[in-house]
Amino acid sequence: MRILTGLQPSGKLHIGNYFGAMDPAVKLQDQGEAFYFLADYHAMTSMTDPATLRENVKDLAIDFLACGLDPEKATIFRQSDIPEVNELAWILSTVCPMGLLQRCHSYKDKVERGLDANHALFAYPALMAADILLYDANLVPVGKDQKQHLEVTRDLAGKVNDKFGEGTLVVPEAQIKENTAVVPGLDGQKMSKSYGNTIPLTGGKKEIRKSIMKIITTTHEVEEAKPTDGSTVIALYKLFTDEAAVQTMIDEHGHSGEEGKGYGHFKQQLFEAYWDKFTAVREKREELENNLDYVQEVIAKGAEKAREESSKVLDRVRAAVGLR
Ligand code: ADP
Ligand code: TRP
Repeated sequence: MRILTGLQPSGKLHIGNYFGAMDPAVKLQDQGEAFYFLADYHAMTSMTDPATLRENVKDLAIDFLACGLDPEKATIFRQSDIPEVNELAWILSTVCPMGLLQRCHSYKDKVERGLDANHALFAYPALMAADILLYDANLVPVGKDQKQHLEVTRDLAGKVNDKFGEGTLVVPEAQIKENTAVVPGLDGQKMSKSYGNTIPLTGGKKEIRKSIMKIITTTHEVEEAKPTDGSTVIALYKLFTDEAAVQTMIDEHGHSGEEGKGYGHFKQQLFEAYWDKFTAVREKREELENNLDYVQEVIAKGAEKAREESSKVLDRVRAAVGLR
């Protein structure tokens, strides 16, 4: 089984990315042949500063390794190291109805939020399909927001197979983890870089604590019992700890009077759980920051391995469509 996923180097990783994408991907490296890439072409649809893009690519490579990606098991590479992906995207574009792209929520959302409606943003799902199909991926672990893009990918692969012959492309499956499908942000909406409501994956103790303390809660006083339904603090705490600890937090929300606990108390518990959980990641990150040659080497080797696979698929596709 071949597993593939990409993350955009478009900003500092947050815990939504970690639980929704990074952690499931890293865990899957033991279950098949994993290909993970740094989606730098995609990041260009939302950012234009060259230095920042370079920096983000480096940071994301470090994040993957710090979160447990083992280069002996999984191949990690930079999307633009295999520029041929654009050729497959073009081929897919020729079978891609406009309506399919027009229906994509991600495009519509981004335009509504004020991003320029340029061609790259619109055509993004075709490039994403190429990312996946170029490596004959079977399984694609992603967050729920990418579900529709996976449907587009399957649709396009099917169209190519119908038109140019069964077996031209492998039709992949999405893997969406339901319990972490949408990690809520500080305001209770989906945590997202673009909403400014994130808790970063790594950072200083003060900075992280401060951001956790900003989680929006009800205005109940310490001595009042507090509602638990819809609580962002509890939803996040669930990601870090076991059922018993979550149950204790839920029970304590019901305490009142002298026994009552304030939101600061619950947030502090969440912060401590966060801090413990990511200690190893922080340490590994620091070590890698001081060993950038190693990181570069891993990425370069990854590109070599990725090209071995992509060239086979591209040859097959070129022959099928009549380019060779
Ligand atoms: P952002 O919304 O912060 O820009 P991306 O769109 O770059 O994040 O997402 C990178 C990966 O992380 C995708 O697989 C996406 O589904 C996942 N992801 C992002 N935010 C969340 C979230 N709040 N909960 C779960 N998964 C998420
Ligand atoms: N679109 C994905 C995101 O925004 C990133 C991505 C690009 C991706 N190409 C991919 C994910 C291929 C999985 C497979 O998060």
